[in-house]
Amino acid sequence: MNSPRKILVTSALPYANGQIHIGHLVEYIQTDIWVRFMRAQGHEVYYVGADDTHGTPVMLRAEKEGSTPKQLIDRVWAEHKRDFDAFQISFDNYYSTDSDENRELCETMYLNLHKNGLIAEREIEQYYDPVKEMFLSDRFIKGECPKCHAQDQYGDNCEVCGATYSATELIKPYSTISGATPEIRTSMHYFLAMSDARCEAFLRDWVQGLAQPEATNKMREWLGEGDEHKLADKDISRDAPYFGFEIPNAPNKYFYVWLDAPIGYYASFKNLVEVKKTTFDGKAIQTNFNDWVKPDTATEQYHFIGKDILAFHTLTWPATLKFSGYRTPTNVFAHGFLTVDGAKMSKSRGTFITAESYIQTKMNPEWLRYYFAAKLNASMEDLDLNLDDFVARVNSDLVGKYVNIASRASGFLSKRFAGKVNDAAMTDGLLVQLRAAQKTIAEFYEAREYGKAMREIMAQTDAVNVFIDENKPWELARLEGKDDELHRVCSICLEAFRILTIYLSPVLPVVAAQAYAFLNIPAQIWADIDVPLSSANTINAYKHMLTRIEPTHIAALLEANKQSLQATENMVHVALRDIEPIAPTIGIEDFVKVDLRIAKILECTTVEGSTKLLRLTLDAGEGKTRNVFSGIASMYQPEDLVGKLTVLVANLAPRKMKFGISEGMVLAASDKDSSDNKGIYILEPITGAEVGMRIS
Ligand code: 2FM
Ligand code: ZN
Repeated sequence: MNSPRKILVTSALPYANGQIHIGHLVEYIQTDIWVRFMRAQGHEVYYVGADDTHGTPVMLRAEKEGSTPKQLIDRVWAEHKRDFDAFQISFDNYYSTDSDENRELCETMYLNLHKNGLIAEREIEQYYDPVKEMFLSDRFIKGECPKCHAQDQYGDNCEVCGATYSATELIKPYSTISGATPEIRTSMHYFLAMSDARCEAFLRDWVQGLAQPEATNKMREWLGEGDEHKLADKDISRDAPYFGFEIPNAPNKYFYVWLDAPIGYYASFKNLVEVKKTTFDGKAIQTNFNDWVKPDTATEQYHFIGKDILAFHTLTWPATLKFSGYRTPTNVFAHGFLTVDGAKMSKSRGTFITAESYIQTKMNPEWLRYYFAAKLNASMEDLDLNLDDFVARVNSDLVGKYVNIASRASGFLSKRFAGKVNDAAMTDGLLVQLRAAQKTIAEFYEAREYGKAMREIMAQTDAVNVFIDENKPWELARLEGKDDELHRVCSICLEAFRILTIYLSPVLPVVAAQAYAFLNIPAQIWADIDVPLSSANTINAYKHMLTRIEPTHIAALLEANKQSLQATENMVHVALRDIEPIAPTIGIEDFVKVDLRIAKILECTTVEGSTKLLRLTLDAGEGKTRNVFSGIASMYQPEDLVGKLTVLVANLAPRKMKFGISEGMVLAASDKDSSDNKGIYILEPITGAEVGMRIS
């Protein structure tokens, strides 16, 4: 191999006031695959991330929750880290922009920019909330649209007629924080002087190195043609109160979050090499921060981002670096947005899928890693998670084709050949062909054409399965005198499986680790493709590596996300209704007397002679059924309830009724006065509850 490259890689820093969802995961998975691939090439790669902690939303949310911003960001950091770990995102460091390293770097860069004459100061007019005593950005002002007069429109655009305007044009503006009418006040602000001729000249040159044609085109649009000078100075300051870093020599002025966020990449890297000093997999790091971030270093620096934050990464961030004495990014790789089943992720449909819900519903993260890989390319096109296709493709490619190779061959090799491969088989033509594919696959990975890489790997996987079907090891095993042939075929299969595992390892790190354990070999890198399995090695017994996705997984996932939305909404808008007064307090000893169980409605029929009652036949897991009458006939057709789970009061004394004996009661919700027609609703547990479970 040529000498190893030194590569620093980042993904965009997620805000510290929200959960990680599958839209975010497109980017982290995309970056992680690239990083793992580059590491497998033997390069020195560091992958850093952090939470983007500063700004008004975090400050306000903490206030609302009755916590400090620090408490909030610490909690969210732990949640984000948990999610990234679950999805095998191999950050060498996951840090925070609210760190000492970041404060120092921000101050140094700012002071250098100042020294270089790249910081401008001027007064601006802005809305001020006199009750909350703070300046308001457009997102915290609403009012009447000056064009179509729709009410409650945001400070910069109208969602009804689509007009854009400045906040000061809104009719009857109000602060969304306090409700007060804002006043216009002036305040001194600090700007990054993007309009400076040096800045424009630098960016016109830097843009030439951008990898994506869409990014180059956007840059041309922003920079303008010929002697157009379109770049405007960027406001990098905010007034107190603000959660962020104070600007040196400017009391009560803070760095705007978008100034300190990208610097957070460097802060995370600095913390990695100077404090943490170990990689994600525990290897010692010995390198010097400045050797990576100063101009003219022989290192590479790549930022993976979403297309919505391209301008921050291709205009302000390189300009900040350039004029504060640092190296500039080698490239910026932007991806498109994620849709689910062809539409924007939707909270009401349950397709706004959080990482946490995915894990909690016991979905395998490598399913999603593979699916995204199969759909990703180097462009900024949006990509779609088609849920049916997701199930079909993962089951067919990974379970049906790839893992199947090991399961079809391993039994014979273990039982008949002491778990040892036939060394002479390692040069078989099929394996030569498989190894020869490494160059093409590597080129696709490096160019972020993962979809093409997956197609090539699956074409090779298909070839191996054809080989198995043609050679029929299960028949060879039954025939006399075919042992050598059987040994050869199974050895080829397992070596093929090893090579395919190396090809898939950037995408499926957990499956790859299991596969290496099964083959009883150390973790493999790309160079190992040409080092075959050997009979010196004994293969372990095959264990299941990957299960299929079932449609029930998807149903549970969507359901979980519908529910989590309700929970969030309820938190935000706490209802105040005219409800039946809460009953007198009881102790837990009273509550535990009631034995509530999950029961399945096996049958449901109308009751002759009653318009109110339905007769339910319930299974509460006792090995017998129960007959229960319930006054819910006005709400449900019997067939609507059959098969559903509900809640049974299981130790209620049986009651003799006109129509028979009721052996318990099912729980249902109704308003205090059943005559007000609000109805009566039988309870149904969240997916996952099973018949017979006790409710406590
Ligand atoms: O758009 C976002 O989610 C930002 N938090 C990304 C910041 S990336 C970098 F600049 F820090
Ligand atoms: Zn309007």
